[in-house]
Amino acid sequence: EKGGYDHFMMKEIYEQPRSIRDCLRGRIYPGRGEVQLGGIKEYADKLRNVDRIIIVACGTSWHAGLVGEYLIEEFARVPVEVEYASEFRYRNPIITSKDLVIAISQSGETADTMAAIELAKERGATIFGICNVVGASIPRLTHAGVYTHAGPEIGVASTKAFTAQVSVLTLMAFYIAQQRGTITRNKSVEYLTELNEIPDLVERALKANDQVIAIAERFKDSPNCLFLGRGSSFPVALEGALKLKEISYIHAEGYPAAEMKHGPIALIDADMPVIFIATKNSSYEKVVSNIQEVKARGGHVIAIVSEGDTDVKEMAEYVIEIPQTSETFVPLLATIPLQLLAYHIAVMRGCNVDQPRNLAKSVTVE
Ligand code: F6R
Repeated sequence: EKGGYDHFMMKEIYEQPRSIRDCLRGRIYPGRGEVQLGGIKEYADKLRNVDRIIIVACGTSWHAGLVGEYLIEEFARVPVEVEYASEFRYRNPIITSKDLVIAISQSGETADTMAAIELAKERGATIFGICNVVGASIPRLTHAGVYTHAGPEIGVASTKAFTAQVSVLTLMAFYIAQQRGTITRNKSVEYLTELNEIPDLVERALKANDQVIAIAERFKDSPNCLFLGRGSSFPVALEGALKLKEISYIHAEGYPAAEMKHGPIALIDADMPVIFIATKNSSYEKVVSNIQEVKARGGHVIAIVSEGDTDVKEMAEYVIEIPQTSETFVPLLATIPLQLLAYHIAVMRGCNVDQPRNLAKSVTVE
């Protein structure tokens, strides 16, 4: 049942080329530059008129929501807020009938997310769901939605569900952009052609596994770890840190790389591995200078870089290469080595990878 892997988590990490492909299937038409989302097509008019989108979720699904914020604002030009469901629900939030709420949940049973949906519904918002488990409670509570189709996720730490959530949010961003006329057909063709190739690139990203094992070996006994990224790689840093802490019990933090100098830099010494997402895109030069700051303080730099990178390679102690892609799709690739890193470190530390202590697959208490 684990398909020859030692743990469900590893099986699910390796399923990602397939799960992303399943998620995109029948939904993108790169030649025509078109996205079709049957589950929300009745709301096409609504999408032309929404004033604001509020994404509610918990944990890893919340991280996917943060990536979604970048994508939707960039392409559909609608303001997006991303909220922890548990905070949203207890805050008397301002919601109107012109708001669209998107609830993201792998299990579709998370109590805090359900409570946030009920509240937004009472106040007249339109609610979409992005769920993995078909027929779960959340898809039944929402007005419309899009399934992630990642297949059953057994490992408690979410992996393939996360990349499928990001894939659906990418589709939604382009779909909303099409409805609102904020993207040209040529641009759509260009982006969707690239999106269609992401499953193959994820396959290539998985080839970094041996490099990741060497890094895991070197840092498995570190008491702390810092993950840094900018732009849509910031939520990837948060997700990398969450994966490491939940399955290996190493204290880890994700931070926007530029925020480091406002506090966390004080933590950097020779015992602190710092993992940078330093792919070739608009913030590359800035990330390079953040790397120099860490090096100057004796921190160990591990960098996820684009294939063919030379500058960061010279500076970092370890690099992990991922295929070159546009900035829009970096989260789908950069997440892969971070999942592998958490996995190998946890296994080396003798942890129960699929069922980490104190955690449950779906959190049905508030
Ligand atoms: C992390 C993890 C949790 C869940 C969170 C939300 O690996 O699994 O943080 O992401 O409990 O669960 P869902 O998405 O089922 O609502």
